[in-house]
Amino acid sequence: MSQFQKRDKFIPYNLPDLTEAEVHEVDDTLRSLWVAKGPRTVKFEQEFAAHVGAKHAVAMNSCTAALHVALLSAGIGPGDEVITTPMTFASTASTIIHCGATPVFADIDSSTGCIDPDEVEKKITPKTKAIVPVHYSGQVCDLDRIYGLADRYGLFVSEDGAHALESRYKGRLIGCRPKGTVSYSFYATKNLTTGEGGMLVTDSDEIDAKARIWAGQGMSHNAWNRYAKGGAWRYDICEPGFKYNMFDIQAALGLVQLSRLEEMQAKRLKIAEKYQREFAKIDAVEPPFVPDYATHSWHLYVLRIRPELLTIDRDRFIGELNERNVGTSVHFIPVTDMSAYTKRFGFKKGDFPNTEKHFERIVSLPLYPTLSEEESDYVVAAVKDIVEKFHK
Ligand SMILES: Cc1ncc(COP(=O)(O)O)c(C=O)c1O
Repeated sequence: MSQFQKRDKFIPYNLPDLTEAEVHEVDDTLRSLWVAKGPRTVKFEQEFAAHVGAKHAVAMNSCTAALHVALLSAGIGPGDEVITTPMTFASTASTIIHCGATPVFADIDSSTGCIDPDEVEKKITPKTKAIVPVHYSGQVCDLDRIYGLADRYGLFVSEDGAHALESRYKGRLIGCRPKGTVSYSFYATKNLTTGEGGMLVTDSDEIDAKARIWAGQGMSHNAWNRYAKGGAWRYDICEPGFKYNMFDIQAALGLVQLSRLEEMQAKRLKIAEKYQREFAKIDAVEPPFVPDYATHSWHLYVLRIRPELLTIDRDRFIGELNERNVGTSVHFIPVTDMSAYTKRFGFKKGDFPNTEKHFERIVSLPLYPTLSEEESDYVVAAVKDIVEKFHK
């Protein structure tokens, strides 16, 4: 029997890693009086594009905005079908609907939780115009196969890289020379945070130009400095655009976080390696499988339980972790289970069997740079204790 000692203090599921450097940069930004979109946002776009190896980066106020703008810029609209995964956050699918198009869901590959390219191919019809694969949890979709389908059927690819900053496909960073677009999230829990925020990257001059228009109220030219001396005050609204731009207080955070990314990633990796090593020793749980082609960003650590070896289900497993003062989350309740989607599309049990099975088994554990060694050891001990107590 383990000598498990319950700790008094709760371990939150996630905390952002913010230092005095971020505080100073935000302070400087406020004192500069340039608090809306301005020079820091432009600098963040340039540094981000250089970091991932893309030609263009357009800073937005969320990844949701970036996903929406990516599809609009590719001309997706009413009558079009766009294939995506049920194992994602709602905005991946909702932004397809926002364009007037129809989301079509393809089941996941059970080994990674990412969309299965064979399932994507089965869902392609003459109306299909795009694929939105999600690099789920920081795992990486099989991009050669997805872009292979895109080339064969003439489809646009908008990669949902909300979790994929620092993920690599065959050694190259996600976002490095993308053939379509990649959208990142800088929400509070992400590997790099601006509080709320997002970035769209592309190598296409045309998508970049259109994205800036769609995200900037549809204005004909980049108008953030139109109030400066000699700034061009006249503009056209050439699309009914959106107010989706990032602003300089967010970019101030982003610039410092980007400069600290390597250090923060190293800490994530160390914790993930411990979890991988320790959970591999426990038969009733299954650590994430990382394919040879992938480098995981470790945005999320999604542990899968094996309910057939336990007397409790996933919900109770989460309750037991909570009882032991370990915060958790679940990524994700399938979009296809959400009432907005079941009402609209009539999905029923059995439509996406791999997604259903995956959902019943998952729990996301604490994984962030400021999680101490003692805390991550404790998370491992708590999981071991639960498995010992509830093993069949
Ligand atoms: C897979 C996925 N896509 C898109 C988003 C939306 O990101 P944001 O909150 O920046 O709009 C999220 C949010 O976490 C996500 O998990």
